[in-house]
Amino acid sequence: MCGIIGIVGQTPVAPRLIESLKRLEYRGYDSAGIAAFENGRVVRRRAEGKLRNLEAVLQSEPVQATVGVGHTRWATHGRPSERNAHPHQAGRVTVVHNGIIENFAELKAELAGQGRSFESETDTEVVAHLIDSELKAGKPPVEAFKAALDRLRGAYALAVIIEGETQLVLGARHGPPLVVGWGQGEMFLGSDALAVGPFTNRVSYLHDGDYVALDAQGARVFDGTGAEVSRPPKQVSSSAAVMEKGNYRHFMEKEIHDQPEAVQHTLAAYLDPVRMRAEAPDGFDFSTIDRIQIVACGTAYYAGVIAKYLFERYAGLPTDVEVASEFRYRSPALSPRTLAIAISQSGETADTLAALRHARAEGQKIAVVVNVPTSSMAREADRLWPTHAGPEIGVASTKAFTAQVSALTALVIAAAGKRKKVDGNEQARMVRLLLEAPRLIAEASEAEDEVRAIAYDLSKARDVLYLGRGAMSALAMEGALKLKEISYIHAEGYAAGELKHGPIALIDEQTPVIALAPYDELFEKTQSNLQEVGARGGPVIAVTDRRGAPHLSSTARLIIAPEADPLIAPLVFAPAIQLLAYYTAVHKGTDVDQPRNLAKSVTVE
Ligand code: M6R
Repeated sequence: MCGIIGIVGQTPVAPRLIESLKRLEYRGYDSAGIAAFENGRVVRRRAEGKLRNLEAVLQSEPVQATVGVGHTRWATHGRPSERNAHPHQAGRVTVVHNGIIENFAELKAELAGQGRSFESETDTEVVAHLIDSELKAGKPPVEAFKAALDRLRGAYALAVIIEGETQLVLGARHGPPLVVGWGQGEMFLGSDALAVGPFTNRVSYLHDGDYVALDAQGARVFDGTGAEVSRPPKQVSSSAAVMEKGNYRHFMEKEIHDQPEAVQHTLAAYLDPVRMRAEAPDGFDFSTIDRIQIVACGTAYYAGVIAKYLFERYAGLPTDVEVASEFRYRSPALSPRTLAIAISQSGETADTLAALRHARAEGQKIAVVVNVPTSSMAREADRLWPTHAGPEIGVASTKAFTAQVSALTALVIAAAGKRKKVDGNEQARMVRLLLEAPRLIAEASEAEDEVRAIAYDLSKARDVLYLGRGAMSALAMEGALKLKEISYIHAEGYAAGELKHGPIALIDEQTPVIALAPYDELFEKTQSNLQEVGARGGPVIAVTDRRGAPHLSSTARLIIAPEADPLIAPLVFAPAIQLLAYYTAVHKGTDVDQPRNLAKSVTVE
């Protein structure tokens, strides 16, 4: 959601805070700010909008300091403005915060009753006041901090500096992650390993409930009970710090073209190309379960829906998929022989993490398909089934999605084998098909010229419908999500057969319909649905393959994807819908990598 950095350093802190915030901007980008000790006093610089606005402020009003905190914001309480930008201050205390303080209204009323006044509409400001009032009551800094934490309800990661304590940065984690970075005679606090990546690759992950006091020499970490604990640093891969666009205009464009490699790396963890077998990295035996319950959000949820089709079709394994924000608040009927699978790029999405914990509390074993191996989900699950997409920076997920679908498809083959739904020959055939996916995805990404031309027309539309059947209906929903996110055009994805039950009323000459129509056993049905659209004047765009093309050329504008077996068709058709959304957004001139109102990692409910 928001990004946090704290530094107790030896060299000028302002450029270092900015460098780190650039890596955190994917978390939120509606305002940014820093605060640091200049000649013993805390000075603050803040700006509404992108980080470059804060950089401009710092150019005209530089800060000379070596210790400070920084923040990039995704607004929850209070609209994006300089006044609501972090850091927030009260008395001696300056705070940056990621998350939501749920009881802020009652705390604010109490603090106001004590004569304290507030300058922002944020929930964060109450934290600064609470700590300051504990300091005023005579408590030393760490105790004052702990006393304030004990009053907070909700989800938060905090970094705090206190006037008069120029070599101290305090941090706390309750929900959203927070890491401590260990340097040589300097220390760092960050929302994730990327935040401290420019300065160190030795990182401790704070546990839920931990709080920490950093000075230049090290960190003292305490758990929620106040007991001092050890959180030894780990070496993290330096690739976490590599985030370059290369020759591409946007990260999203690069990440679409990174997909063959992302899928190949991911499959290497699941497929044995010598024995032509698929297996979960930990050898999980799918014959020990009767059901799968998938939980995820957004794009990861659609990857889960595709997996449902495949698990049931090929492995005969009943599979339920639910958006995590719903699952966590109901009482799902779970059996002991159910495996819960959480799917997530970041491994930090608050709803998915809470759903995972909910399933655990219900006695379920948990596996996670996750892209960040050091994330909270990776650490909390019983089984870690990684994707190897590398860091994904564009807010609209692309390569993480195909990496998830490829890992899940490999697991489907493993499950089909273990459950004796396929023999050795059939398993080898399926593995061979999946090994072909990276090449076919690369080929699919070459259809850019047709896609660009169609996207130009799409950029004029107000509403767009996406249709597909079987697993392609989930890809249709993912296509609609991509378009909404980055082009701000209203779009919906439907199972093609549902069109006649209502949505067809939306069809007119101004409402393009995009059909995902591989030439498979359901092709003719989809073709009929497209006739129904054409008969009502709706412009039709069909993503199909060479065998489907002649049947659709009189009804639709075509984007040709490579022919693919149904097992891997969702992977092979994915680049077309991603590129369509991408070029539509480019034609519209929107901010592709950082679309309005969104953030890469949603660590609040
Ligand atoms: O990090 P996660 O995979 O858990 O994130 C889940 C969703 O927030 C994410 O997929 C979101 O829908 C993307 N912006 C989609 O492009």
